[in-house]
Amino acid sequence: MSPALDPARSPVPPFDLVLFGATGDLAGRKLFPALLHRCSEGVIPDDSRIIAVGRSAMSDDGFRAQLRVKLQKAEIKDPAAIETFLARIVYRAIDADDPASFLPLAADFEGVSRVRAFYLSVAPRYYSAICHHLASAGVVTPDSRIVVEKPIGTDLASARATMDAIAEVFAERQTYRIDHYLGKETVQNLLVLRFANTIFERLWSNADVDHIQITCAEEVGLEDRAGYYDTSGALRDMVQNHVLQLLCLLTMEPPNTLDSNAIRDEKVRILKALRPITGADVLTRTVRGQYRAGSVDGQPVKAYADELGRDSTTETFVALHTEIDTWRWSKVPIYIRTGKRMAGRFSEIVVTFKPVPHSIFDRLGADGHLAPNRLVIRLQPDDGMQLVTMAKIPGSGRLRLRETNLDLRFGEQFKDRAPDAYERLLTDVLRGEQTLFMRRDEVEAAWAWIDPIEQGWRERMQVPHFYPAGTNGPSQAIGMIERDGRSWYEP
Ligand code: BG6
Repeated sequence: MSPALDPARSPVPPFDLVLFGATGDLAGRKLFPALLHRCSEGVIPDDSRIIAVGRSAMSDDGFRAQLRVKLQKAEIKDPAAIETFLARIVYRAIDADDPASFLPLAADFEGVSRVRAFYLSVAPRYYSAICHHLASAGVVTPDSRIVVEKPIGTDLASARATMDAIAEVFAERQTYRIDHYLGKETVQNLLVLRFANTIFERLWSNADVDHIQITCAEEVGLEDRAGYYDTSGALRDMVQNHVLQLLCLLTMEPPNTLDSNAIRDEKVRILKALRPITGADVLTRTVRGQYRAGSVDGQPVKAYADELGRDSTTETFVALHTEIDTWRWSKVPIYIRTGKRMAGRFSEIVVTFKPVPHSIFDRLGADGHLAPNRLVIRLQPDDGMQLVTMAKIPGSGRLRLRETNLDLRFGEQFKDRAPDAYERLLTDVLRGEQTLFMRRDEVEAAWAWIDPIEQGWRERMQVPHFYPAGTNGPSQAIGMIERDGRSWYEP
């Protein structure tokens, strides 16, 4: 079994983690709280060190004081645990544009030979300079690791350029590209659901599956990320990475082992088999949306353009209809939708099975026909699974049928705390486990599928349709699936 997914895996070795962007939002909200958790669980060896890097000059204590305040929002409240953690952190001021500012790092590493990881929680435009300045400062060893966050590029060409720049310093085996969805418990559980049970896998093909839906709906809007989000949009921000990763895990062939390359080989095969949406297909197989003012959770919220402060043609919602051109999945429609300011926050996958070949219950169901079986895999919140089945309504009169749910909620089944995605991903980097990180060819294959859609939108001047905030996207998205005689599954 791959150590990345093996509970009895090796301990985290002593390490130096250099965290660029240590004063930034992701570091404060996710990375430091995740490391604090691991530290309080005793997973982080005592002599390990976290070198926090920011632009401004600050003392170690000054940085610790700032971080102490941020960590008060973390789950762990024990002051002693927080102080033990803070004592592992030192601070260095480095300017990505100034190679000389990297030189003092060499002194930090003098005589230290243990796992070294550089985490770039900074805008991608700095990736290349940081990698090269680290190399010039002589701190990159053959066993060093680099960790980068999405977005990796804005299209295939720019993704390649970014990855080439990193590859001039770090080999593929040293490169960890994060898609935080892969660190989520429920996403990893997709592999277990499919490959540790016999009942689903046997039905997992066009012989029995009618269609698949993937929805990643969010309630939040721009969240102070206007600068990034308006240049990205829902397709690049969510579909290119998170949604396609979910689709791959759901539909890939069984890998021979849980080895990182065995799994990633299978995922790449799916990405390459995704039917391209090109030219005029964008008119029928895609829907772009942008939210207007509305209300979410009973609170009035502004339109996207008002949050942004100007008009924009960026999509905050996208719906897609695609297929996977393989023997197993041929002609099984796959419907995807994701967006901001939707009716609720939920991510789920719905696999709808084909109807029974001949119904002996004709005209007995609520509306005259049987509802198909559906497997609903809820990724967040309230992760779990529902299997929608037909059942007899109790009674001695006329035989009546109704849909019922076999309902499994993981939170009720397991009392164990589900770690945040970054807790697993960070320690996987330190252990040298790449399974849950995107390989270069995965990133490229995903962009190769996304680019023609963006191009089709540009050529046909497809502007987004408006939808009121607090709804599940524009009516055109409903039309897209209803044209095929199907409908979106709403929880
Ligand atoms: C990020 C996107 O990658 O994922 C955000 O950039 C999005 O726009 C977020 O909100 C969703 O992550 P989660 O874990 O909240 O589903």
